[in-house]
Order: sequence, then structure tokens, then C-alpha cells
Amino acid sequence: LNKKVEEAKKRAAYAAVDYHVKDNQIVGIGSGSTIVHVIKRLAERVRKENLNVFCVPTSFQTRLLIQDIGLMVIDLNRHLEIDVAIDGADEVDSELNLIKGGCGCLTQEKIVASCAKSFIVIADYRKDSSALGEQWKKGIPVEVIPMAYVPVSRAIQSQFGGSADLRMAVSKAGPVVTDNGNFLLDWRFDQEHNWSAVNTTIKMMPGENHCLAPL
Ligand code: A5P
Repeated sequence: LNKKVEEAKKRAAYAAVDYHVKDNQIVGIGSGSTIVHVIKRLAERVRKENLNVFCVPTSFQTRLLIQDIGLMVIDLNRHLEIDVAIDGADEVDSELNLIKGGCGCLTQEKIVASCAKSFIVIADYRKDSSALGEQWKKGIPVEVIPMAYVPVSRAIQSQFGGSADLRMAVSKAGPVVTDNGNFLLDWRFDQEHNWSAVNTTIKMMPGENHCLAPL
């Protein structure tokens, strides 16, 4: 199974890079395991075709990978318009709503995507669902300012039901801390919702940082 999944990730990543990236572009690079294939393919094309491409990373992980492979990094404070952003997803429904943030990098991913002229999502076959929650059982990640995790968790639960729990670290005592120094809540919902309305409502909660991906 792992080989099949890895091959699917690679195919999606290669197709995105081959079809959507052109010379003299600024490219937003998402985070996670599928993106590793994007970075490899991009580096290969840059080398073979002598392309002039700058990459805007969405996480510490991505920045390191881009630098290690020899691609050029640029930040949003230098360039406001990104030609294309490519990113993975945890789940995609039939209306193209996405759950993102399984790897905890959702805030920067969303910022970079919002600055891009086009946003390409690459996902293997496991992530395809008719309704959110069908495939990805870990809920919707919500990044929160640490002091606000209890009020935001309570507000989500009281307005939408389900449970919004603090994501705990595996190899460290205490919660996962994001690249931005924040905490993550994983909201496991127990029914279908109007995701656009949920996104707006959660975004209005003081202390919340980022919820669903661009709709
Ligand atoms: C990172 O925060 C996420 O949004 C990833 O894009 C998402 O979790 C997909 O990750 P994989 O490519 O590892 O499945």
C-alpha cells in the first residue's frame, strides 16, 4: 500500500510542477509529505531546463528542503505576488472544500495561497471524499493563540458540536507548538456543516488563527 500511495503522491506532484510551473516564476511551496515530490521535481526541472524560479516556503520543513536541494528561497516581504502555489491536502470534498493542517502548517499555507494568482492542490486517491470527514478522521485543525485555546475550543463545541481537542506532541511533553509559536485544536465534528459559514464563524473567534483552507 505504501508504495502505491507514494507513487500516487509522486504522480500528482510531477503533474503539478510540469504543467503549472514556468520560467521566471515565483512559486509557493506547501508542506507535508506530498510536497517533498514537488520540491524534487522542481529542482530537477530547474537544473535541466536552467529555469529561474524562486520559492516561497510555507513552513520550516519546506524552507529547509528547498534550501538543501539548492532551490532559491524568497519571502513574502520581498515579493507580494506569487504566480502559482502548490500544496497538499488532508481531504477534498466534491465541492473542493479542503481540510488542511494535518502537519500543522495551515496558517502559512493559507497566507501563501492567498497571495498566489493560482492555487494548485495535489492529493492522492485516499483524500477524495464526497463529504468532509469521510476519509480524514482527525478532524479540522484550527491554529490558536496559546492563551485562547480553551475559549476557542469551547466556542467551537458550543456552536457546532463535536469536540475540539488540543493536539499533543509525540516526542515532547505537552502540546504541539506550530512554526508560529501557536497551539492546534483538532475539531472532530459529528455532522455535515455549511463549511463556508463554519470557516467565517471560526475565523471571527478571538484567538483563532486559521481554520479551513481557501474555499
Ligand atoms: C500541512 O499542514 C498540510 O496542510 C498538508 O498539506 C496536508 O496535511 C497533506 O499532507 P501529506 O502530503 O503529508 O499527506
